[in-house]
Amino acid sequence: MISQRKDDHVRLAVEQQHGHIGRNQFDEVTFVHHALAGIDRPRVSLATGFAGLSWPVPLYINAMTGGSAMTGRINRDLAIAARRTGVPIASGSMSAYFKDESCAGTFSVLREENPDGFVLANVNATASVENARRAVGLLAADALQIHVNTVQETVMPEGDRSFSAWVPRIGRIAAAVDVPVIVKEVGFGLSRETVLTLRELGVRAADLGGRGGTDFARIENGRRDLRDYGYLEGWGLSTAACLLDVQGVDLPVLASGGVRHPLDVARALALGARGVGASGTFLRTLMDGGVDALVDQLTTWLDQLAALMTMLGAASPDELTRRDLLIQGSLREFCADRGID
Ligand code: FNR
Repeated sequence: MISQRKDDHVRLAVEQQHGHIGRNQFDEVTFVHHALAGIDRPRVSLATGFAGLSWPVPLYINAMTGGSAMTGRINRDLAIAARRTGVPIASGSMSAYFKDESCAGTFSVLREENPDGFVLANVNATASVENARRAVGLLAADALQIHVNTVQETVMPEGDRSFSAWVPRIGRIAAAVDVPVIVKEVGFGLSRETVLTLRELGVRAADLGGRGGTDFARIENGRRDLRDYGYLEGWGLSTAACLLDVQGVDLPVLASGGVRHPLDVARALALGARGVGASGTFLRTLMDGGVDALVDQLTTWLDQLAALMTMLGAASPDELTRRDLLIQGSLREFCADRGID
């Protein structure tokens, strides 16, 4: 049953991408144009860091899949693309491995194909400490993601209905594993209040995983063609809104959810993200065009990000954080409602 679900997620996520992820709140974030701000391209470094970790680039392939034969092949191809471009990569949820060890290879391929790259393991917030350690061990992972997904669970008939244990469990895992723990949403966003709680729990970074791209309420409704929770489609905080909401919180944040092109990467970095991830758009490229197409896309994004930084006068992702931004439209109203300056 899990492996069928994993295959459904891939099919429906790619369908969503083909339906076109249109405008989102990143469009309401604009750089003030300074015509003489530009610098020289050789000065630009894409290297970033957070929680004691160093990444060569501020871009990553975010959590997607594993657990079935087809998703094992997808993980192999994603890992090859990650190796060829130096882009960090996260595994999909490893719950299937805890239930049935015979699918271990569909996850461990991420490390086998990418022996020197940065790899993140991924578990849900109900995982035991023992299983969190097994997940990290299987991938020789450099960090562990714990995903939180109450909306997705609610829409799934077989989903979890008990959420109160998540907070203590996250704290226990964060204290017990010997790699940094990052908590992520799956497309509904993390609020300031949530990120403050994560900081108290000893989590080392928050991946805001906001609205604007892949919509898991729609995916889970689509798996049954009933759409009984149709009204939850579009739920959540956009990634741009989350980035504004957590300004000043003393915990590194990563941004993902609805990142469509290199300008969105630059916008997210300018709003304070230490790294920027995407899932659906990279999956679509892989499924439509294979590994070479994904390598092309990743290479182009990195090249264009460096070009945008050159134009904006930012020699590093850190310097991008200090560029002048305009916040407009509904995002501006969000800031006013939340008391954000
Ligand atoms: C996901 N995502 C996800 N996240 C997670 O933490 N564990 C998982 O197992 C999965 N599975 C998964 C499957 C597929 C097919 C997709 C497309 C996505 C969520 C993902 O990491 C990300 O948070 C959201 O997809 C939002 O980002 P995009 O797709 O808008 O870039």
